[in-house]
Amino acid sequence: MPNATGLLAYCRAGFEPELAAEFHARSAELGFAGYAKTQRDSGFVEFICDDALALSRELNASTLIFGRQCIVQFAALNLVSRNDRATPIVNAVREWLTANDLKPFGSVVVEHSDADEGRQLAGLSRSFGNALRGILRKEGLIAPKDNRHEVQLHVFLKDETSCAIGFSDSRTSSPFEMGIPRLRMHADAPSRSALKLEEAFLVLLDANERAKFLRDGMTACDLGAAPGGWTWVLVRNGLQVTSIDNGPLRESLMESPRVTHLRADGFKWSPSRTLDWMVCDMVEQPRRVAERMGEWFANDWCRNSVFNLKLPMKKRWQEVELCLERFEAVCGKPMTVRAKQLYHDREEITVFAQAKKP
Ligand SMILES: C[S@@+](CC[C@H](N)C(=O)[O-])C[C@H]1O[C@@H](n2cnc3c(N)ncnc32)[C@H](O)[C@@H]1O
Repeated sequence: MPNATGLLAYCRAGFEPELAAEFHARSAELGFAGYAKTQRDSGFVEFICDDALALSRELNASTLIFGRQCIVQFAALNLVSRNDRATPIVNAVREWLTANDLKPFGSVVVEHSDADEGRQLAGLSRSFGNALRGILRKEGLIAPKDNRHEVQLHVFLKDETSCAIGFSDSRTSSPFEMGIPRLRMHADAPSRSALKLEEAFLVLLDANERAKFLRDGMTACDLGAAPGGWTWVLVRNGLQVTSIDNGPLRESLMESPRVTHLRADGFKWSPSRTLDWMVCDMVEQPRRVAERMGEWFANDWCRNSVFNLKLPMKKRWQEVELCLERFEAVCGKPMTVRAKQLYHDREEITVFAQAKKP
């Protein structure tokens, strides 16, 4: 009987050691033994584990900080014939569904890593994905119409002749192909950083939360705001923003009645009344940022926050663990904390935080 052999997660190229360390730490916490198989700059990590299915349920893959997408792997195939890559995949999928008495998958996606080598497979993934979808549908192995609420089948091309096959649960997986939301840079946005905050709202909040927590007329401050990408995103969401930076904001923002620019130190400034949001993109030591963010919640200066932690070059997973622990300790109250290395993040992660209702 085919077995789930492990978890396979995609990450930013170069961050495989961080994702591997995260897998080790999180699985050990949950009482699962396993080991990570990684290759530097490959853009993915395999975590081999006896009870991968149970681990995936307990882990909630969407909470991985360095994993953009995580699938439960049940087959690894060599696709020896370039003329017929589909047959071995169809056979493996049928075997898995039959052996486990499962209904067809909701849909299929053919993916590759977001690393130099992987990106060369983009064309093949697209064309092969279209062909495979038709074949799997004809064989009754995926639903007659794509259903993203059902379990999704993933075929992950490692190169032209090998792939991993697995699945993800729509409740705990990224809805985006390869875990990457395709956001377009808006012509009016003052900086590319705007995409980071847009992605943070999209990935770290669900649709209900966005509607509830980001409403017209709410108040916010943006620490380290210049040239104004994050402020611009907040204004577009209807918020009234105090933007803190010694540097200048883009002119169009300065003219907005929704923006007040203060030349002040983001580590010292605090509001006179509780704000709905505090966002922070200051380039500083992550521990210093984490502690200051904690003070904001300890003092009830804000209800919600998105902040970035810029990571050092070494021991980045340990630094993240330490910073998040420190942050919660300084907050001194129960918090909802979600962290992710977003697609638009480079050597950094983004954190959403909110004080839990008493
Ligand atoms: C990465 S940029 C922010 C980009 C911005 N989020 C955007 O979307 O355009 C970092 C900013 O933090 C500011 N900064 C660094 N330390 C600061 C401090 N102590 N107080 C205020 N701003 C600070 C810098 O002046 C710089 O403009």
